[in-house]
Amino acid sequence: SSSKLLIKGGTVLNAHQQEVADVYVEDGIIVAVKPNIKVDEDVTLLDATGKYVMPGGIDPHTHLAMEFMGTETIDDFFSGQAAALAGGTTMHIDFVIPVNGSLVAGFEAYKKKAKKSCMNYGFHMAITKWDESVSREMEIMVKEKGINSFKFFMAYKGSLMISDELLLQGLERCKSLGALAMVHAENGDAVFEGQKRMIDLGITGPEGHALSRPPVLEGEATARAIRLAKFVNTPLYVVHVMSIDAMEEIARARKSGQKVIGEPVVSGLVLNDSGLWDPDFVTAAKYVMSPPIRESGHDKALQAALSTGVLQLVGTDHCTFNSTQKAFGIDDFRKIPNGVNGIEERMHLVWDTMVESGQISVTDFVRITSTECARIFNIYPRKGAILVGSDADIIIFNPNSSFEISASMHHSRTDTNVYDGRKGKVMSIFLFVPYA
Ligand code: URP
Ligand code: ZN
Ligand code: ZN
Ligand code: ZN
Repeated sequence: SSSKLLIKGGTVLNAHQQEVADVYVEDGIIVAVKPNIKVDEDVTLLDATGKYVMPGGIDPHTHLAMEFMGTETIDDFFSGQAAALAGGTTMHIDFVIPVNGSLVAGFEAYKKKAKKSCMNYGFHMAITKWDESVSREMEIMVKEKGINSFKFFMAYKGSLMISDELLLQGLERCKSLGALAMVHAENGDAVFEGQKRMIDLGITGPEGHALSRPPVLEGEATARAIRLAKFVNTPLYVVHVMSIDAMEEIARARKSGQKVIGEPVVSGLVLNDSGLWDPDFVTAAKYVMSPPIRESGHDKALQAALSTGVLQLVGTDHCTFNSTQKAFGIDDFRKIPNGVNGIEERMHLVWDTMVESGQISVTDFVRITSTECARIFNIYPRKGAILVGSDADIIIFNPNSSFEISASMHHSRTDTNVYDGRKGKVMSIFLFVPYA
């Protein structure tokens, strides 16, 4: 038997245009997009008059079921995806962490973790060390496993960080394989020094985390990665851009014609650290992520960069730990597992912050939350568009509805929410996702 669905009378949003049209779906694939589609009686009808119909959100940056800093994220592929779907995100791209230095073993482990999935996902591969076998396995990933993006860590000294020499080799390898290099851009050696400084000063609480790794260290690493990518002549994707310093390096490179992509994350766009480092440890520790949430001013500047195209798409870096896990660092901020929530809140908050404020159009919203990600990671137009032949990962929402975020109502397994109490104008979301 086949499933047939007609979404009638909505305003269909794509990155390139908006139009009032019906969307007809058969067996999870969009087969027609045009006004006044006539169908048989056995078709499920959805009236979307007065509502927006758009491709589901795609989150380019998540960490589900990741072992990190001596523990494992509290959201796995089931709870993380349930949260994503509740918030209108219908696909995410997660980072495979190698197992004992093996990319293939890491990939197999993540395939197993992802068996709990209730929506489509993709993988990037984190490169956490470098040798001949990693270089060889990168080819297997690209040619046999469909992984086309590799993240290099310039921070987390002593665990994930790699040297410039190895980063350079990694960039060369990405170039030869036609893969995209991604970087976590913070100067890990300087962060290590900054952390020692804080501890020497007796600053052991969560505020020490932010103070130990200021924007200048993100700017420096971003500039270095951009220049190394230029030297190698290969494109670069900078993940979680959190500061003006990093953003300006990206702006400069793009202006000169270099292929650099900048991904801000929701926390960097909508949060700043005024009043954040509450004396209560648990209240403050939930905000600890890397690069850290910055002083007021960086948030607005990142929004502006997103609206002018200096930055191209929005991720979340969803990486959740509950209060018990965050408390591993109660005596020493260096032991607080790094990461914040966002997979469920991204679509709401980007709409509210960027569209309601008049900084971007509704079609730009589709581009930065869905289409651009699909294009960059080679899944467009199957994903990221409402076009004939695309997957019917469709969300429908009422632009006149409202939301309120709360830790007690969200779908993540975390007991806190860095956006707790936030209200906004839009949007309640109805989803149609044909995941089988
Ligand atoms: O604090 C963060 N960002 N945790 C996740 C790991 C990473 O660096 O993306
Ligand atoms: Zn629910
Ligand atoms: Zn990172
Ligand atoms: Zn991340």
